[in-house]
Amino acid sequence: FMIGRLNHVAIAVPDLTAAADQYRETLGAKVGPSQDEPDHGVTVVFIELENTKIELLYPLNENSPIQGFLDKNPLGGIHHICYEVDNILEARDHLILKGSRILGNGEPKIGAHGKPVLFLHPKDFTGTLVELEQA
Ligand code: CO
Repeated sequence: FMIGRLNHVAIAVPDLTAAADQYRETLGAKVGPSQDEPDHGVTVVFIELENTKIELLYPLNENSPIQGFLDKNPLGGIHHICYEVDNILEARDHLILKGSRILGNGEPKIGAHGKPVLFLHPKDFTGTLVELEQA
């Protein structure tokens, strides 16, 4: 097993419009429209960079998993990083064998890009929430 490319870095933000404007106008990045992702409780703006993507995450409602993170990090902050894998079930089984915990029920969900994703417990990965996406 070997991880693939960095697919995206996700940043939780307290003001989605301000953050998108900053990436567009200050950094000159290619910023997409905002999209609601009800399955994940977030509104997302995708930013395309040459070598990867940035996802700006904003809570879709009060029950959003992002809300607690923003309560602790009111200015926003890096929420997770996403690596690509060739086969998500093979990756999951390998990681479980290596002692990593998978969040949720252990079954892949369809992520913001329409592909299967899983999240690994941050306590097993140097305090970083890691998402795996089948490329
Ligand atoms: Co993600």
